[in-house]
Amino acid sequence: MRLYVNIDHVATIRQARRTDEPDPVRAAVLVELAGADGITVHLREDRRHIQTRDVRLLVETCRTLVNLEVATEEEVLSLAEELQPEQVTLVPERRDEVTTEGGLNLARQEVQDRVGSAVTRLQTAGIRVSLFVDPDPEGVEASRLLGAEAVELHTGEYANARSDEERGRQLSRLAQATAAGRDAGLAVHAGHGLTYENVTPLAALEGIEEVNIGHSIMSRAILVGLERATREMREILDRAPGRVSEPGQWLPPMGY
Ligand code: PXP
Repeated sequence: MRLYVNIDHVATIRQARRTDEPDPVRAAVLVELAGADGITVHLREDRRHIQTRDVRLLVETCRTLVNLEVATEEEVLSLAEELQPEQVTLVPERRDEVTTEGGLNLARQEVQDRVGSAVTRLQTAGIRVSLFVDPDPEGVEASRLLGAEAVELHTGEYANARSDEERGRQLSRLAQATAAGRDAGLAVHAGHGLTYENVTPLAALEGIEEVNIGHSIMSRAILVGLERATREMREILDRAPGRVSEPGQWLPPMGY
């Protein structure tokens, strides 16, 4: 099972101050050192977190693979063609959504046409294409017909299940969609809402070869890292010399 880590939230924190930290490119190095098989970023039309610069540098510097999530919009598609990540996952996108809310609606002819032409364009540029779909045989079959190499099954409903019964039902749905994907010759990926608590039953499903996980890993990183980060600031303050009454007469060295 390949683990692709979505690092969008690192950019979200940076964009909260429009500064240069934390840098998702540096975060990607740590994620790779910790054993991730790939780095996932979503280049949204409104650039609310990941910027074009991030994708450019990630493609240049990642030692693993870059999976770029984009909508079927001209601007991001041509950027993908130019920047050449190893994989593009096509996702639906709405400006007012907090996060991707569901899979591509491939039952609609207009969506099929847009996705089909995006698949052809990206593949012509040498990029592997995955389609983010709900875990139903129809979306999987439509993905095969459109020529994608892979599907990413939306695990949001599984993740949001409120009872064991519902969780079991959603897991069976994912198992069936995975089998349909494998039968259709597609690679099967999964993602959205996966956590340390709910990932194990999904990981046990035969046939899923890649998971994309972002929010839960970033949330844990903040909690496991906060104590150390606070301690380091505490130490800097504790090391500072006695107070000066004339600022400017004495300038402490910058750095840490
Ligand atoms: N897969 C896709 C297509 C997504 O859009 C997202 C969220 O950006 C994820 C996976 C990761 O979801 P989460 O952040 O809930 O782990």
